[in-house]
Amino acid sequence: MYNGMLHAHSGLRWLVLIFLLLAVIKSFAGWFGKKDFNKSDNLIALLLLSFTHTQMIVGIILYFISSKVVSMGDAMKDSVLRFWAMEHGVTMLIAITLITIGRVKSKKAETSELKFKKGAIFYTIALVLILWAGLIKPSLLGAGLF
Ligand code: HEM
Ligand code: HEM
Repeated sequence: MYNGMLHAHSGLRWLVLIFLLLAVIKSFAGWFGKKDFNKSDNLIALLLLSFTHTQMIVGIILYFISSKVVSMGDAMKDSVLRFWAMEHGVTMLIAITLITIGRVKSKKAETSELKFKKGAIFYTIALVLILWAGLIKPSLLGAGLF
């Protein structure tokens, strides 16, 4: 159970990152290129949300079964334990919330320009957070790529 969840979580990260990167690029290209928000833009946003929300559920399950997540009292003294018990989950939940707000605001916006602009702003902040707490820092701590 644990190993399967860990690999699912580690692998899903790439789908989240690929679709987030695509969404950022398409949002800026659409915003500054004054394009129409079309079907492919909508599909990328939907797939991004599906992968991101699934990743959240797997992450929350991992939080309860991982041996790397120890009690807060023990975790606070050690920077590696603190990362897995606190920083990773909190940063990711913020990033996931930003992606969801970005999508909801983009969907509600009246014009293509505003749809792209909302996505560009929220997705870019989320991308920075996920690159740090979901790619760079885990790799520095010895996490595998899959
Ligand atoms: C505990 C689990 C989950 C929570 C709390 C959650 C929460 C949310 C929220 C708040 C929204 C925004 C709703 C809105 O448009 O106003 C949303 C949208 C969405 N969620 Fe989730 N979600 C969860 C699980 C999932 C899963 C498992 C999937 C897919 C596999 C998923 C796919 C989507 C999609 C595609 C949308 C976008 C709908 C749209 O924009 O038309 N979610 N979710
Ligand atoms: C976009 C969102 C996320 C990404 C990209 C991401 C990415 C990762 C990566 C790369 C690892 C290391 C996997 C390995 O060691 O092979 C990891 C581990 C972990 N993640 Fe996430 N994560 C996300 C969201 C979350 C959330 C929302 C939670 C919980 C609230 C969470 C909880 C955990 C836990 C507990 C581990 C440690 C598992 C272990 O090594 O025992 N993650 N995550």
